Amino acid sequence: MKKRVGILISGRGSNMRALVEAAKAPDYPAEIALILSNRPDAAGLDYARTEGIPAAVVDHKPFRKDREGFERTMQAALESHGVEIVALAGFMRLVTPWFVEQWHDRLINIHPALLPSFKGLDTHQRAIDAGVKLHGATVHLVRAEMDEGPILMQGAVPVLPDDSEETLAARVLAVEHRIYPQALALLCSDAVTVEGLRAKTPVADQPPLIA
Ligand code: GAR
Repeated sequence: MKKRVGILISGRGSNMRALVEAAKAPDYPAEIALILSNRPDAAGLDYARTEGIPAAVVDHKPFRKDREGFERTMQAALESHGVEIVALAGFMRLVTPWFVEQWHDRLINIHPALLPSFKGLDTHQRAIDAGVKLHGATVHLVRAEMDEGPILMQGAVPVLPDDSEETLAARVLAVEHRIYPQALALLCSDAVTVEGLRAKTPVADQPPLIA
């Protein structure tokens, strides 16, 4: 049985698109049941609609002083679409411990850095400024602390001497689009066991993908 996945977005939605494309394969273990955006103008919503995937907006603005109300409204939308696993894909709101608890080990995120380095924003410029030679992206199970949680998959890219934030971001994004569908497939095929901080998967002990 395919797992029903809800994807949360805030903007462009290119990772969402990679997941939607992957889920078209007959043997992919997930189907995309809902695209949910906190921004009515998210570009990714148009794509979801053209693909015929249910799309919904829960605008965070009316809930500015009521984060719980915002998340309960999202939760109701996810439940009404029978969502079993949630994938954050450029969803730029911090989620609360309550939401994380609802989706324990069923909530994943993609972060544009090799965690635990460079949590937070502006990861590419910070990687350049730090002089690291490898950078990349991480798919992880979400925990209450921001950008923390058992790592499912990572992909690494070189940082080149002439890189700008834009060129490095583009190289990382290409890796994001490769690893996110793979990591979601692992989770949806029940191939992940979690022991403390470690997510064990069939590929967990392999070296990172270096693009
Ligand atoms: C992606 O690079 C994703 O890793 C990042 O936002 C971008 C969204 O692009 N996420 C975060 O920074 C989360 N803290 P997309 O909308 O085209 O997928």
